[in-house]
Amino acid sequence: MAALGPVAARTFYQTLFDLRPQYRQLFEEDMEGQYVKFVSTMGFLVDHLHDPAVFEHEARKLGSRHKEYGVVPIDYASGGLALMRAFDQHLVPPLTKRERVAWVHLYDEVALLMIDDGVPSGAERVSENQQPE
Ligand code: HEM
Repeated sequence: MAALGPVAARTFYQTLFDLRPQYRQLFEEDMEGQYVKFVSTMGFLVDHLHDPAVFEHEARKLGSRHKEYGVVPIDYASGGLALMRAFDQHLVPPLTKRERVAWVHLYDEVALLMIDDGVPSGAERVSENQQPE
């Protein structure tokens, strides 16, 4: 990601806004600063893949800020698509299949931690209620 830099981040946000136009207004008109923030945050997470305590802590903190911005869980799917499109449009040589799978896993892992605020979902509550006494 760091190698790709802000150029790929531009494609990421263009795709995200195509899929979820309502988010455009939440960002500044000038997106340059956001491109840098996005790339450095992804870079930080990748650098801490083998340090689960830091990785989880940062992803959860990022997630709670996103909740405040009004990002809802379903929209992380659009983010995943946008990330893969950014790679497809800018990486030379393109990602191998194995690298693609690794990135999909990484994004999903980050998104899951960002979404997980520790509150059981409705479905989990229902199944808890159905437990035999
Ligand atoms: C792995 C996925 C994502 C990463 C790494 C990421 C990263 C960031 C970063 C670093 C910021 C700057 C502020 C902060 O650190 O809190 C930010 C802001 C923001 N992000 Fe994300 N983001 C991700 C996914 C998404 C998605 C899927 C959406 C919406 C569909 C979204 C919407 C926003 C909004 C609305 C802001 C606030 C912008 C502002 O206040 O100027 N993000 N994001």
